[in-house]
Amino acid sequence: MIVAPSILSADFNNLGRDTMMVNESAAGLIHVDVMDGVFVPNISFGFPVIKAVSKIAAKPLDVHLMIVDPHRYISQVRDCGAEIMNVHQEACTHLHRTVEAIKAAGMKAAVTLNPATPVETLRDIIADLHMVLLMSVDPGFGGQKFITSTLGKIERLRRLIAETGSSALIEIDGGITLENAPAVSAAGADIIVAGNTVFSSPEPIETIRLLSEA
Ligand code: DX5
Ligand code: ZN
Repeated sequence: MIVAPSILSADFNNLGRDTMMVNESAAGLIHVDVMDGVFVPNISFGFPVIKAVSKIAAKPLDVHLMIVDPHRYISQVRDCGAEIMNVHQEACTHLHRTVEAIKAAGMKAAVTLNPATPVETLRDIIADLHMVLLMSVDPGFGGQKFITSTLGKIERLRRLIAETGSSALIEIDGGITLENAPAVSAAGADIIVAGNTVFSSPEPIETIRLLSEA
């Protein structure tokens, strides 16, 4: 299992220290949550902060944009050093155009679905995607409770990927704990995002290692 610690739950007074911790860990990605206060009821941080993290991050940046019309920011996200640009299906009127533009900018394209959005909505684009991110909480805040019906949704996404011949990876975001990670893995996830579980742990490097064994 690839683990993507979410720096939304890091100590912002020690963001450099927490990024270095992720560098030293078994994490495969650093997950970066951008919120605009419109698409989600919260505001997190923007490009100057991502750039600062990118300067010292040794793991690829997985930038999750919880913002309306993310197409407007493709070049800024690329210039921040993102490897993966994650946009919400619900926030893109012309999703195919946005996915093509993300790839043309030199990034891997990922599409995120809110808990209430069915996986079937991606059938006609999934072959073009590097990754699909299923939200296992309603986006906007760290530390929420995992929505259990996500497990069935992971299995449905796995079937859709097989049926369409897509090579998209499956990432799950929200409420991941050491307790539920094995079920998420068994359902077919490739990547788990973990914010609160990692950054509230007294031994975050060990917690990341345990999550990676799920
Ligand atoms: C939620 C964000 C998540 C969040 C996960 O809106 O997209 O990435 O940081 O945090 P935890 O793991 O604490 O639920
Ligand atoms: Zn996220």
